[in-house]
Amino acid sequence: MTDFAGKSILVTGAAGCIGAWTVKCLTEMGAKPVVYDLTDNRARLDLIMEGAEDVVWETGDITDYDRLTAIIAQYDISAIIHLAALQVPFCKADPVGSTRVNVMGSINILEAARQAGIKRLSYASSVAAPAMGDNEFLATLYGAHKICGEQMAAVYWQDWQVPSIGIRPGIIYGPGRDQGMSAAPSVAMLAALEGKPYNVPFSGPLTFCHVEDAALRFIGAVSKDQTGAPVFEMNGTPADTASILDMITAKTEVSAEISFSGDPMPFPAEPDDGRLDELIGASPYRSLEQGIEDTLLMFKQAKKRGVDIPALAERLTT
Ligand SMILES: NC(=O)c1ccc[n+]([C@@H]2O[C@H](COP(=O)([O-])OP(=O)(O)OC[C@H]3O[C@@H](n4cnc5c(N)ncnc54)[C@H](O)[C@@H]3O)[C@@H](O)[C@H]2O)c1
Repeated sequence: MTDFAGKSILVTGAAGCIGAWTVKCLTEMGAKPVVYDLTDNRARLDLIMEGAEDVVWETGDITDYDRLTAIIAQYDISAIIHLAALQVPFCKADPVGSTRVNVMGSINILEAARQAGIKRLSYASSVAAPAMGDNEFLATLYGAHKICGEQMAAVYWQDWQVPSIGIRPGIIYGPGRDQGMSAAPSVAMLAALEGKPYNVPFSGPLTFCHVEDAALRFIGAVSKDQTGAPVFEMNGTPADTASILDMITAKTEVSAEISFSGDPMPFPAEPDDGRLDELIGASPYRSLEQGIEDTLLMFKQAKKRGVDIPALAERLTT
């Protein structure tokens, strides 16, 4: 991967799951991630890394264009990884407010990149975007926002040659994945480790991508100047919900009642076409077995560092 040493990279939504990992990976590469998030809560970073308190952190709203551009200028930002968004349930609960964040926030990022001449921009779309088409999958306002983001990015390339790479993550799992329905397999890993009963509220086949594999792809997508505004799927590994839960219980010493129930999730369960990995030279997705082991190990390490893992398990499982 390109030499990121010393480069200032803006990561929006970095208090979140994928963002926290993006910050961790960038820090390990010697880059200077600059967090831009509504909240200054570093709990997800504290869970996954040491030195979270040293990360450059600017609280701000992506709907605030002036603040966004001021931060880009202040830190001489050379690349943007745009992850801030409100997910499915929040969009349903607040259609107007969430459109402001997901759509206006995205146009602000594109415009700020255009004004600053930034040629390295990756942003999160979603597996929920293709579900907006004429197919069996569930349409959501969130998916409509993500489609809109992709189309705005295409226009920014066409009209002003602002390049970008859009990435559609499938189900992300791993430490830090703690909200939204598809966080359940990650919560199950924590519950199993702490010996707490937990029920995953869906069944059936899905694709799963470890959050570090996801973060490395968002980073890879800004490792060099790009052309165009392509969008790629990032599905990870297909697996059945039941088989994941079997792997989790097999890898934990404590016996906990980990179950699942409910309908399959309305998303495809196929591997992606590998085009993103080919473009950025990404390593293959880790196996689910490896991803579960990595997740359990990180929870154990965090516990040793003093993170209150039992309290986290209690909060997420009740
Ligand atoms: N986690 C998944 O399985 C998944 C799947 C598909 C797509 N995605 C997309 O990937 C991106 C990151 O996902 P995640 O799971 O890390 O999300 P997350 O919900 O954990 O984090 C999102 C972050 O955005 C911040 N944010 C929200 N509104 C903001 C605003 N107005 N201004 C600044 N910051 C704001 C939040 O404070 C939060 O820290 C999102 O765009 C999401 O839609 C995630």
